[in-house]
Amino acid sequence: MTAAATRALPVASLVVENASEVLTMARPGLSGPRRRDDLREIGRIADGAVACADGDIVWVGPRSELAGAVTLPPDATRVDAEGGTVTPGFVDSHTHLIFGGSRHDEFERRILGQTYQEITAAGGGIRSSVRHTRAASEEELAEQGRARLDLILRHGTTTVECKSGYGLSTEHEMKQLRALERASRGHAVETVSTFLGAHEFPPEFDDDHDGYVDLLVNEMIPEVAESGLAEFADVFCEKGVYTPQQARRVLVAAAEQGLRPRLHADEFAPSGAAELAVELGALSADHLSAVSEAGVRALADSPTLGTVLPGTTFSCRIPGANARHLIDAGVALVVATDLNPGSCAVDSMGVILGLACIQLGMLPREALVAATINAAYSLDRADRIGSLEPGKQADLLVLGVPDHRCVPYRFGTNHVRTVVKRGRVVVS
Ligand code: NIG
Ligand code: FE
Repeated sequence: MTAAATRALPVASLVVENASEVLTMARPGLSGPRRRDDLREIGRIADGAVACADGDIVWVGPRSELAGAVTLPPDATRVDAEGGTVTPGFVDSHTHLIFGGSRHDEFERRILGQTYQEITAAGGGIRSSVRHTRAASEEELAEQGRARLDLILRHGTTTVECKSGYGLSTEHEMKQLRALERASRGHAVETVSTFLGAHEFPPEFDDDHDGYVDLLVNEMIPEVAESGLAEFADVFCEKGVYTPQQARRVLVAAAEQGLRPRLHADEFAPSGAAELAVELGALSADHLSAVSEAGVRALADSPTLGTVLPGTTFSCRIPGANARHLIDAGVALVVATDLNPGSCAVDSMGVILGLACIQLGMLPREALVAATINAAYSLDRADRIGSLEPGKQADLLVLGVPDHRCVPYRFGTNHVRTVVKRGRVVVS
């Protein structure tokens, strides 16, 4: 008898089989955020299968080895991938999912030639969403948020980061954070909450920006931290919004209260924000469409991941991040939607993967690694999600395409056929 035969085989409660390819995003010996050539490592298993039990993955490998690797009781769920591609669930690590109102009027104005900043200067932009979010009740925001979670789940997002930032007062930021908590209660999509009280300056503080920073530091951050409603803190560090000095003040105060930093960095103009993100040990510096060479050097080989948001630059009709340069320099890249009512109203990670390839020059496999395991690292959850490995949470997708490259290639179609979250089929 072989050693394997004498050991008890794991008993699977769910198995996915008949996949043309299973992308594990893993390889023995590979760990940490993927950069340079490792960003191409999708861990492809042709004709692969995945077995799960108690919400976790217990085995991944070629289908021919499945029968010898797990015990499959008669009542186990069998998911037939029908020749499709199996990947980890998408991890959307940057969204502004809870908001009131809609800004389709601004979309039209951008088509007519106005820039995002011009619209902001005219009283639109984030402040327009602040007016609508303040006017909405917690229940309304939660209900709309829940509908958006339903939608993104159907598009394959199994974990999503959601920022506040449309309240801009203690009362309304707390309302937004509570609305997220309500929306996600019992929902299959796992949410990660970020406090973004420094998304804009509220009109009440038009003549006293530092006064609002004082309010953030002395009142809002302590209250948010005390509530336990957020895990991270973020700042829109950008010319005309928060200076690097103000961003540092906010993020240092937040970190002292246990809210870990991430940063909106160098979206429209370089401001030293990427460098600041690295200096503060932020998990991620996001946007980077206008990052300086010094910013790229700071991010390269640092623990701070770089998140690119190709839907935003595409929607704002501005040049996208130079992903090839960032990758070559050694930045560990993440791709996310930035789902929000203004700069990018895109909820589908499939569409974003298409834009990452077409607009930013990423290879399909790089975009997929960036949207799964690297995104999980940027949320400090890579020990649980982002790849298909025994011991990790069973969050996976069956995509109705025979080859993963078809996802960005045919990006106008939702290819998600089945979603498994924590070992349970939640979309089929
Ligand atoms: O990431 N840049 C700042 N924040 C969002 C836009 C939010 C909005 O326009 O409502 C972004 O693009
Ligand atoms: Fe954003």
